[in-house]
Parts: sequence; C-alpha cells; structure tokens
Amino acid sequence: MSVVQSPISIASEERKKVTIHLIQAMKTRHEVISMLTAYDYPTALVMDQVGLDIILVGDSLGMVVLGYDSTLPVTMDEMIHHCKAVARGAKYALLVGDMPFLSYQVSTVEAVRNAGRFLQEGGMNAVKLEGGRERAETIRAIVSAGIPVMGHLGLTPQSVHKLGGYRPQGRDVAVAYRLVEDAQILQEAGCFSLVLESIPGRLAELVSQRLDIPTIGIGAGASCDGQVLVTHDLLGIFERFTPKFVKRYANLAEEMRKAFSGFKTEVKENTFPGVEHTVEMNEDEWQKLEERLAQGSFIAQDQALR
Ligand code: KIV
Repeated sequence: MSVVQSPISIASEERKKVTIHLIQAMKTRHEVISMLTAYDYPTALVMDQVGLDIILVGDSLGMVVLGYDSTLPVTMDEMIHHCKAVARGAKYALLVGDMPFLSYQVSTVEAVRNAGRFLQEGGMNAVKLEGGRERAETIRAIVSAGIPVMGHLGLTPQSVHKLGGYRPQGRDVAVAYRLVEDAQILQEAGCFSLVLESIPGRLAELVSQRLDIPTIGIGAGASCDGQVLVTHDLLGIFERFTPKFVKRYANLAEEMRKAFSGFKTEVKENTFPGVEHTVEMNEDEWQKLEERLAQGSFIAQDQALR
C-alpha cells in the first residue's frame, strides 16, 4: 500500500532536531528564537509542522488547561503526564519541561531527581525553573547531572504571593539592578537561556546585550533574542484574563462556542447524523437478517447453528 505524505511531513524529513547548541548559535547569528507552550499531542504536532524552535510544557498548564487559580497546585505527575503527550507529537523542536512549585526549592537532591524525571519519563530535552541567585546552586547541580536548564526572571508566577500579584517587575532601580545581576549569575551557573517575563523593554534589551546566552521574552519588548507566549492566550481559548502583553492571533473560544452549539442544535433537531455520517448494511445482508428474525427465537437458533 502506498502512503501519501503531506508536503509538511516530506519537508520535516529534511529537518534536524533543535538542540541547545543551535539555540545558542541562533543568538550569535541574530536569528530570533520562537517558543510557545503546549500541553498535548495534537498541539505539539502542529507546532512541529510549522517549525517552532522551542516548545515549553509550561506550568501555565495549571491555569489554562487544568483550571487552577494559579500555577502553585501543579504537581510533578501532572507535568510529566502532559510532557509525555507533547513529546509524542513533537520530534524536531527543543522540548523544555517547566519544573512546578516545590519540585526544586526544597533540596538540591530533590531538584536533580525531579529534573531527571522530565528527561527520563517526560521525554523532554531540558527543564526550566524560576528564580535568581537563590537558585544558582540548584542550577549548577542539575546542569552537572547533564540536564540543560532554562532560567526565568522578572515576573515569576510561582512567587505570585511574594510579588503581590501578577504585576510587571524591574520598573525601579533596585529591582532592575538585582535582575541584571541575577541574569549574570544564572548564566554563570550554567543556564543555556533565560526567560524574561513582564519587565520593561529597555531593561530586557540591556540584559540581552550583556549576556552570551539567549533571552526569551514574554512581555519584555522586542529586543530579546526570542519570544514566547502561552498558546491558550494566543489562540484566544483562555478567556479568564489576558495579560496586556498578549497578542491574540485567533479567537478559538468563539469558534468552539459556534461549533458546540451547532452540534447541540443539530442533535436536538435530529439533523445530525445525516446519511453521509452513517454506515449501512448492504441489502443482501439486511434481507438475511430480516429472514432470521422472522424465524423466531434468534438466540436459540443462532446457538443451534454453532
Ligand atoms: O508556564 C509558562 O507557560 C511559562 C511561560 C509564561 C514562559 O513559564
């Protein structure tokens, strides 16, 4: 049997897997890095088809997929479950798993073990964790176990209560100065790249210029080495709130409402399923069935025939 391949899958055969080395080389070549979050197989598949550089299985999972109020309740097992699905869908993008709250803060040993699970069980290529200088030792330990680490500075959602809400960071000199120092410390600790979330564009530009490793911005202006968004925000699926820095490329919640209510109406009105959605027996088999049924006890006769 000949298998018809889509142009996308033919093109993908020539593609190479994105590595952390390629991501770092992209900064040198001034090639902007594209990253989005994914939490399931079909989304990862499509992202890989369009050639995204990095797919992050973010702990934003907790809010946009699992319906929690924050990222704090997300567990390691929930993350691994979704990482596995993404890894089955994406073969080319660099896959980064987001370490959830308390999976790396309690002890270095636990942090290394949990980071290892992302690669060993989840099929990820790297992990991401939040925080500055206070995470340097942990990052060194994870990197020395052979696990690439992406840092995350600025608005770090796992510290939402300490920060007093989801608000931009680094607008005053003290926090900005500390962030510049933290970025340097994370690079020295071995991070291969750094997410900068919700900080002033000028500050993100300064950090990006001072670092050798690439920065990936979300709400951090256009001068970062790459950009990331939460996919459910970009697609307009998550409507509870939308940060100012999000650009909506689609309004899928509206499309879903149209589709679901279309289905409901057609079911209630008996116009779905139509003949084109229904399998039928051929006339011959149907006649035989009617004859058998006319002969009386179907079950008794059927057993007698065996
Ligand atoms: O969890 C997540 O989706 C993230 C991105 C916002 C970078 O950390």
